[in-house]
Amino acid sequence: MAKSTREFVCQNCGAAYNRWQGKCDACGEWNTISEEGAAGEARAAGPGRPPRKGRAFALAPLAGEDAQAPRLPSGNGEFDRVAGGGLVPGSVLLVGGDPGIGKSTLLIQIAAALAEAGHRSVYITGEESVAQVRLRAARLGLTDTPVQLAAETSVEDIIATLSHGKTPRLVVIDSIQTMWTDMVESAPGTVTQVRASAQLLIRHAKRAGSAVILVGHVTKDGQIAGPRVVEHMVDAVLSFEGEGGHHYRILRAVKNRFGPTDEIGVFEMTGGGLAEVANPSALFLSERDLGAPGTAVFAGMEGTRPLLVEIQALVAPTSLGTPRRAVVGWDPSRLAMVLAVLEAHCGIKLGGCDVYLNVAGGLRISEPAADLAAAAALVSSLAKSPLPPDAVHFGEISLSGAIRPVVHAPARLKEAQKLGFARAVVPEATRAAGEPDGLALAPLAALIDLVAHVAPSPRPGGKPRIAETNG
Ligand code: TYD
Ligand code: MG
Repeated sequence: MAKSTREFVCQNCGAAYNRWQGKCDACGEWNTISEEGAAGEARAAGPGRPPRKGRAFALAPLAGEDAQAPRLPSGNGEFDRVAGGGLVPGSVLLVGGDPGIGKSTLLIQIAAALAEAGHRSVYITGEESVAQVRLRAARLGLTDTPVQLAAETSVEDIIATLSHGKTPRLVVIDSIQTMWTDMVESAPGTVTQVRASAQLLIRHAKRAGSAVILVGHVTKDGQIAGPRVVEHMVDAVLSFEGEGGHHYRILRAVKNRFGPTDEIGVFEMTGGGLAEVANPSALFLSERDLGAPGTAVFAGMEGTRPLLVEIQALVAPTSLGTPRRAVVGWDPSRLAMVLAVLEAHCGIKLGGCDVYLNVAGGLRISEPAADLAAAAALVSSLAKSPLPPDAVHFGEISLSGAIRPVVHAPARLKEAQKLGFARAVVPEATRAAGEPDGLALAPLAALIDLVAHVAPSPRPGGKPRIAETNG
């Protein structure tokens, strides 16, 4: 009996089934499974063909001449920082992000910068027409740069074109979801097509030594759509993010075989394209509500770079049976933890309050060091008592209510000092780091000390003021 060559593949995670079903068992998504040709169909050995005999190859030691990957700086400082110092020849980068966030804008700017520096740089679009890309380039003032442009979607044709003439140093493919190859039968955009197209382009990049940047779309929950599989195949995955309504865009490395994954690049979307932001702290603090209760400045770290951001909190009596907890830019489970510690160790009742927390400027913070700043903003909002505008905060809160030390304290303090802050509320252990000139440290051992600081009790031994306001 002939073996079936059809299979059913989840378009979200790539899991394969031999019959259709409504829900993918692997990732739990509904209605994502569709029929495709089996992955190995095109190359499968025919029934009569004998299996190929393996060929022996030489094994090499770990030590070798080529330990350092040579880098080609793109000329865009923020992009290079995230990529780990520049583009690595023969590497493949995947840039993911929501539609309209500015992926095409960023990549045409990078292609133009390299072309300007005298390297062959090719931009292939499968989403727009050549005229549309030209229109954007004109807006960005890049018309005179020698970028080679094409609107194409066939991977075989693209590779044939790239193999002609001088080897391109950079090839941008916008986007991988629009590419298709003759090797597989499925429609463009399906997991099988995306995987096969990416595989061909990756093989071409390694063979030719060109750096290839693939653009990938992101699903509603932030995964690079469909081809999660592509994430495993490429050398680096960068995610381009930003909050709607803000002009800042953050480029973040999710995976990087040639560099760190904790660096971010900050850009501002302007009328003339994406501008690099060299001093992001100044940008994130530029629109502060000085003197309003419920805001605290957090001295954070993004990779090797300190970054000051404002954390805003609103604590208000609820009119609902179950109080609301809403967070933008921070981890909701960390907020729940900080609230639990405030209740358990500081005697603050929050059960009857709605709590909102927001990281200003559309930044997303994942550091536990933000606990103290978040707690300060919450207590300040509840007590309606503004925090000193010239103070920064950092420190991790443990479940016992103690303030734990965090890494890179000197760099955080230095950044705060540079931006004119006069006080730093820090963990007790940071005292050892010493006080930088002009910056007074307020070391805290426990969260209860912070509460006493922000909302001092009106009479000795009395309940903190917030316990009363909250009735
Ligand atoms: P685009 O690069 O097309 O996004 P993506 O490729 O990620 O889908 O960017 C589109 C948005 O960027 C669009 O909403 C307009 C805005 N934009 C500017 O604000 N200034 C500019 O100079 C350009 C080119 C785009
Ligand atoms: Mg685009």
